[in-house]
Amino acid sequence: MGRGKNGAAGQTLPLSISRLHADKSVVLECRDNLIFMRALPDASMKLIVTSPPYNIGKAYERRAPLEQYVQQQTAVIAECVRLLEPQGSICWQVGNHVTAGEIVPLDVPLYPIFKSHGLKLRNRIVWHFEHGLHCSKRLSGRYETINWFTKSDDYTFNLDAIRVPSKYPAKRYFKGPKRGQLSCNPNGKNPGDVWIFPNVKNNHIEKTSHPCQFPVELVERLVLSLTNCGDKVLDPYVGVGSSVIAAILHDRDGYGCDMVQEYVDMAWERIHQCRAGFLRTRPMGKPVYDPEKPYGGHRDRDFK
Ligand SMILES: C[S@@+](CC[C@H](N)C(=O)[O-])C[C@H]1O[C@@H](n2cnc3c(N)ncnc32)[C@H](O)[C@@H]1O
Repeated sequence: MGRGKNGAAGQTLPLSISRLHADKSVVLECRDNLIFMRALPDASMKLIVTSPPYNIGKAYERRAPLEQYVQQQTAVIAECVRLLEPQGSICWQVGNHVTAGEIVPLDVPLYPIFKSHGLKLRNRIVWHFEHGLHCSKRLSGRYETINWFTKSDDYTFNLDAIRVPSKYPAKRYFKGPKRGQLSCNPNGKNPGDVWIFPNVKNNHIEKTSHPCQFPVELVERLVLSLTNCGDKVLDPYVGVGSSVIAAILHDRDGYGCDMVQEYVDMAWERIHQCRAGFLRTRPMGKPVYDPEKPYGGHRDRDFK
């Protein structure tokens, strides 16, 4: 049987379903990403969005010297660039590599690799979240970055699809030729390059046993802005399938691979739950902090 840990309704899948390689709009395999990607055609992906291992000794990675890690990333990035459509985007989400208390923000050593392929950095998005390790000899890390590169200057960017509510939607010009007209876009404002989404910790609705999942809403924002319906989205380090789920929620095709069978099984399970309409994901646009539910819906006494 597939693993049922994340099942909103506690449902498990027969092994024959969880070990699928492809169905309808999803291709998902338990495989090393270089092998998986080499089988895919040139210029076939509109968005490649991923969070690689940070080389910090998580359960799914073997710690390597930084130079070796960067070399491995160089090979993976080269293959991603080959797969990218001319109007496509790569979003590489990274945090810090840490050795003996010294941090290396991974976008620093990785940036020249993307540049060497002629990619252009459009935004270095700061993803801010509240929860994580409490450091005692430096400030606790509360952000990571999403480095958005495009292959050309002619790239897909659907700003209207990701507008967020303006702070003062009724504000009007008070002088000049536009006096009296609304001064902001009635459809909302550009979300900017600092994104606040809760990271997936124990009381997050999407939590599985994977130690560092993407929140689906974060990938949804990238899928909506950087692709159109029917486009293909690839995550070469797909984990429990959050990127594929964001893709299928918005009628895109999802491609992904992971080396750990347990994660791939969970990904299939979540995908089938998603299609059946009972996968619980945190809705885009939900406020991060609700003063009516200060502990995310838990009662005070749950913490005593
Ligand atoms: C940071 S996690 C990504 C989690 C993912 N974003 C999610 O939402 O579940 C990195 C993943 O990369 C996988 N991985 C590591 N090396 C890999 C490789 N060479 N090929 C494919 N997957 C790999 C790990 O098993 C791990 O699940």
